[in-house]
Amino acid sequence: MKKAKEQIPEDLVLPQHIAIILDGNGRWARSKGMPRSYGHIVGCDNLEKMCNVIGDMGVPYLTVYAFSTENWKRSQDEVKVLMDLFRRYLKKLVKTAHRRQMRIRIIGDTAGLDPDIQESIRYLEEVSGVYDKMLFQIALNYGGRDEIERAVTRLADDARKGLLPDGRVTGNMIESYLDTAGVPDPDLLIRTSGEQRLSNFLLWQLAYTEFYFTPVPWPAFGKKELLDAIAAFNGRDRRYGGV
Ligand code: FPP
Repeated sequence: MKKAKEQIPEDLVLPQHIAIILDGNGRWARSKGMPRSYGHIVGCDNLEKMCNVIGDMGVPYLTVYAFSTENWKRSQDEVKVLMDLFRRYLKKLVKTAHRRQMRIRIIGDTAGLDPDIQESIRYLEEVSGVYDKMLFQIALNYGGRDEIERAVTRLADDARKGLLPDGRVTGNMIESYLDTAGVPDPDLLIRTSGEQRLSNFLLWQLAYTEFYFTPVPWPAFGKKELLDAIAAFNGRDRRYGGV
């Protein structure tokens, strides 16, 4: 029998797209007297678990921030631990994608990642591209401003080639050049571990998203905490720029 607090209330409205800033691995590990790398390993296991939980609930889109364009400034050792984790996780995700009939897309400047990681991404996106039960987007070497710069550069190239209808730029057009092209904007953004900022995540896409900040660090964020976030989302009076 499920713990009462983890049961999903019948009248709960599910966000269709949840975005998560996975924060607090390092602090969580330190609080247990362990090295930061341990926090990343447990954080990665938790990502796998929570992706299943979110998929089982019936949420069709999940986007997570795993490595930002600024994260290269961390110590060489920590960057290596994270890159090795991505290597292993990307391989493991091939099986998960088949099992869950889930499409996976990596967003960010993947050209800046090691060639073997780029090859794993290419393969994972190709084999999972046939599925449409859920879309799991992982931001790697991602920055919202960098994404907009890359999108606008490609858009300007197309404009020079005379490919833009009427020579006009619209919001829909910009959207179609973003890494997240074709995906509805997140309804709910969750940031774990107490910080209350966006840290350059999905700057364009979060324009009308509801934000939820929790002090719980990512490795300790489970189904109960997710249900709390969704319950808070249900209490919001959503507006999309109207009055
Ligand atoms: C933030 O915690 C977390 C990260 C920079 C990395 C997120 C990575 C994972 C959850 C694991 C791997 C994910 C994949 C996709 C394989 P922090 O180090 O900033 O913690 P702190 O704020 O306590 O220092």
